[in-house]
Amino acid sequence: MTQTAQKEMNAIHWSPDSWRTKPAQQLPSYKDLDALKQAEQALLKMPPLVFAGEARNLKSQLANVAMGKAFLLQGGDCAESFSEFSAEKIKNTFKILLQMSVIMTFSGRMPVVKMGRMAGQFAKPRSSDTEIIDGIELPSYRGDIINGFEFNPESREPDPARMLQAYHQAASTLNLLRAFAQGGFADLRKVHKWTLDFVGETPLTRRYETLANEIENALGFMEACGLAGDNAPAAMRQTDFFTCHEALLLPYEESLVRVDSLTGDYYDTSAHFLWVGARTHQEDNAQIEFIRGIKNPLGLKCSPDMDPDQLIRLIDILNPENEAGRLTLVSRMGAGNLERGLSPLIRRVKEEGRTVAWVCDPMHGNIKKSSSGYKTRRFEDIIDEVTDFFGVHNAEGTHPGGIHVEMTGQDVTECTGGAYEISDDNLRDRYHTYCDPRLNANQSLELSFLIADHLKSIYKK
Ligand code: PEP
Ligand code: CO
Repeated sequence: MTQTAQKEMNAIHWSPDSWRTKPAQQLPSYKDLDALKQAEQALLKMPPLVFAGEARNLKSQLANVAMGKAFLLQGGDCAESFSEFSAEKIKNTFKILLQMSVIMTFSGRMPVVKMGRMAGQFAKPRSSDTEIIDGIELPSYRGDIINGFEFNPESREPDPARMLQAYHQAASTLNLLRAFAQGGFADLRKVHKWTLDFVGETPLTRRYETLANEIENALGFMEACGLAGDNAPAAMRQTDFFTCHEALLLPYEESLVRVDSLTGDYYDTSAHFLWVGARTHQEDNAQIEFIRGIKNPLGLKCSPDMDPDQLIRLIDILNPENEAGRLTLVSRMGAGNLERGLSPLIRRVKEEGRTVAWVCDPMHGNIKKSSSGYKTRRFEDIIDEVTDFFGVHNAEGTHPGGIHVEMTGQDVTECTGGAYEISDDNLRDRYHTYCDPRLNANQSLELSFLIADHLKSIYKK
């Protein structure tokens, strides 16, 4: 099909529920269809969580990423949970994201677009529909928005009412995030306050302190020149912070679609940015059908099995107008696979003149089972994938546009390695994730300094 024909097709057939006519992967089968209908009806009446204007602002910032003028930091939990929900936890993750971003902006000399896998990152795709423990087989845990983590038949039964709880949790999370981002906490003059008390002093926190002192000095100088203090530009006193999650649970996403009164366009108001994951990115799949019709900026996970033709067909569907900022490609190849998996995709996208932002998820291609039985990731593999990501983009003459990580401000031991050496045996100490293992504060800072060094060396600033 030509690009024009594809455009016409796209324009004609989309509606918020047109995904229902497509083959769907990874959706729960709810037993009580009346309860499902009720939950959907209740969500339809709820206020939007985000606004179309904010999604458009994000899109224009992502256009800068696509054009090599900014870097995207996307991070947060693999899966948010109902039980681990607290202001403290939100604040700590926000603090780490601010620290990571200031490291990249100051040392890497690159504006950073900040996006949390927060306020809606609940639904999880699973490789198997069921899980067997001690000979008992039950449905797999699919995220708190669908069923419970506890291993018993009641908890594992998908319950549509969970969608409402997820909505309310997302609303209060977003409320706090907005307050942190706009209410003074993200002011650059608070750069020393973004550290986490429990981390204590480590080589990385010392490195961060040095950087924070340099920023403080620079601000002092600007203030003396009349450019900071109360005259500081808004960008130094507050920040834009956006939310994102995987567009997986379509009854929830559909119920939060609203028409923007200014433009008449459809937006999914559950988050600023929605992506489709590696298990649901087939062209004729329900999740792809759903996201192609919403105007939010979109993400698409690219795994090593994706071939360049398939990627171009997906770009035709998701970004037929070739708009900068509309589509972010999140590659998750696994360390050692980038030349084989990513280079051909980059080359083809470039040849075809498609404008996309390229982002590296160094987490999902690097999952291992540790000798102690935990699902983990080796920090060394994460570093290798990020380093290769920069290398491959350098070789192709394209912009390495960002990083997508699973991390937390909690004091966890889930990924092994890093300057603060976590061993296989340490994993059991503080392994709290509901799904995939996350970077802790030290590992997140270490990764950020590495990225800043790459950015500085590429752009020779
Ligand atoms: C995720 O981002 O948590 C995820 C499941 O990723 P992927 O679709 O890339 O496996
Ligand atoms: Co994950």
